[in-house]
Amino acid sequence: MSTDAIVILKNDHKEIRKLFGRYDKAGDKAFKAKQSAADSILEALTVHTYLENEVMYPETRELLPDLEDDILESYEEHHVADVLCMELAAMKSSDERFDAKMSVLIENVTHHIDEEEQDWFPQVRAGLGRKRLAEIGQRMLELKKTAPRRPSEPGALKKAVDAVTA
Ligand SMILES: [Fe+2]
Ligand SMILES: [Fe+2]
Repeated sequence: MSTDAIVILKNDHKEIRKLFGRYDKAGDKAFKAKQSAADSILEALTVHTYLENEVMYPETRELLPDLEDDILESYEEHHVADVLCMELAAMKSSDERFDAKMSVLIENVTHHIDEEEQDWFPQVRAGLGRKRLAEIGQRMLELKKTAPRRPSEPGALKKAVDAVTA
């Protein structure tokens, strides 16, 4: 399996898009199916944003100062996703505002991952090179083993609380 950081993150994106599709395809009243898709979405996003925040973003920011603005915007987009995930984790799929909140999450994250893939991943690939990307990916795979998986876990919660209070 490739340890290239961009390959790993793009695989995560693909999985996240698939889960969004699963949620969207569930019927309006299919609360169980929606809850199960939503649980998987929250888990995938909690792990993914954690790995980007802890490894990929700081690394890119340090090595490619030209991408500073993109990274800062991405942190803000993660912040919005963190807040929505924390709120959704405390709700049930049958709640009146659940669908609306989930739609906003899906729209925001889809825009965010499109931007990562189209705008700055190509520049990161050109700027960092294969060896460095493999090292960064290796560190993300290592950290993935202990990454928070639910928005309520300490690592994820701290990130979300920081997002609300920052
Ligand atoms: Fe991201
Ligand atoms: Fe991402």
